[in-house]
Amino acid sequence: MDLIVSLAKRRGFVFPSSEIYGGMAGFWDYGPLGVELKNNVKAAWWRHMVQLRDDIVGLDAAIVMNPRVWEVSGHVAGFSDPMVDCRNCKLRFRADDLKGPPAEIACPNCGNRGTLTEARQFNLMFSTHVGPLEESASVAYLRPETAQGIFVNFANVATTTRRKLPFGIAQVGKSFRNEITPGNFIFRDREFEQMEMEFFVHPSQEEEWFAYWVAERLRWWTDEIGIGAERLRLRPHDPDELSHYSRQTTDIEYAFPMGWSELEGVADRTDYDLKAHAAGSGKSLTVFDDASGEHLLPFAIEPAMGVDRAVLTVLLDAYEEQQVEGEKRVVLHLRPSLAPIKVAVMPLLRNRPELVEMGRRLTGDLKARMPATYDDTASIGKLYRRQDEIGTPFCVTIDVESLEDGAATIRERDSMTQERVAMASLPARLADLVAGAAWQGAQREPTAEA
Ligand code: GAP
Repeated sequence: MDLIVSLAKRRGFVFPSSEIYGGMAGFWDYGPLGVELKNNVKAAWWRHMVQLRDDIVGLDAAIVMNPRVWEVSGHVAGFSDPMVDCRNCKLRFRADDLKGPPAEIACPNCGNRGTLTEARQFNLMFSTHVGPLEESASVAYLRPETAQGIFVNFANVATTTRRKLPFGIAQVGKSFRNEITPGNFIFRDREFEQMEMEFFVHPSQEEEWFAYWVAERLRWWTDEIGIGAERLRLRPHDPDELSHYSRQTTDIEYAFPMGWSELEGVADRTDYDLKAHAAGSGKSLTVFDDASGEHLLPFAIEPAMGVDRAVLTVLLDAYEEQQVEGEKRVVLHLRPSLAPIKVAVMPLLRNRPELVEMGRRLTGDLKARMPATYDDTASIGKLYRRQDEIGTPFCVTIDVESLEDGAATIRERDSMTQERVAMASLPARLADLVAGAAWQGAQREPTAEA
């Protein structure tokens, strides 16, 4: 994890939020490469969950909603962790992290005995005030999950899109939780992004759709994102750890450096939320089901994941240190579709204006098709390492021969092999490669990597 935190800082993926003022626990800023990677992860999810399917549509609801939403959803009463305070050092701990009853054990921070309070529920929602008056009537919450925006828009979407069961509504957006113990870099934050989808089904099809989404989401991580299958596993929740709205939940866990932990959860929320909002709002939220001829409240099967946790997983899974010609090479084996920069162009000799000019022109042409960059600020070996470390899948080298044969060399990150391609065909060839076309590189020339 330390290697990833340091790489993320050094290369501009993720910075501590408001770092010049000492940062703020649980808040992070994404730098120039991080925002590209994050956008690519979100695009991969949106494409797969919405654009390639006929049965799921998208939504972008407001972060601040009528506070009744959170009373009715059960979050005001139930979205809390049991916490204990130390009367001596004033620190607060999650009760379930303690190794015994608070009255009997020593404070994990100051070591005093008898100073821990009994456990009290601590609500994780951030509250704010809407309008000029800071009074109880103006309290509103920053959403702790994107899902409620979907439930309260269920009737709007069902009516306007004339959807029939089964169908889903997907949303990507920020969520906020006043986590007591944020940490493990961007694993547990106080401000984070979620990608959630509510799939509405006839109650009799609950089990088959739950099984479908658990399998489908696991497949997405391996086949679409390229996470190693051996570092993923499924873990059904025990009854006592289920969220207040869930009948059954299966987590997709990843082998993080701190141990197996939740990457994504698939929950069977039944009609818990729609039923609550129908009662709370007095509006009918039933739909007509053609197959059974009934008006009913559908059940919701929910795959829910965190974007920040996904970015962390992608970085951890892609990171490798190798020895190449006696030197350390750090490489991020990112899929081309996820890599922040797809191609870097570099002249072999930066003191030859014709090569520089050719490289810059090619970079301009490439930029119209894909994120591309030009760099001539170091030796070719150093430039390759710089790109390897941020996961750039392809580099293009312009050399003296290029002036005569009008061709350049593409070098592939993982194999370090090379292909010679005519300059005019380079943009199309690179676009194919980025889209997943087979690589046909030959043995690398050792001097080019030195
Ligand atoms: N709507 C259901 C829901 O929010 P959750 O298990 O609390 O369920 C879903 O959250 C996903 O959101 C988690 O699997 C995780 O990836 C991400 N997530 C939750 N809390 C987070 C936090 N504090 N920081 C970063 N990601 C978080």
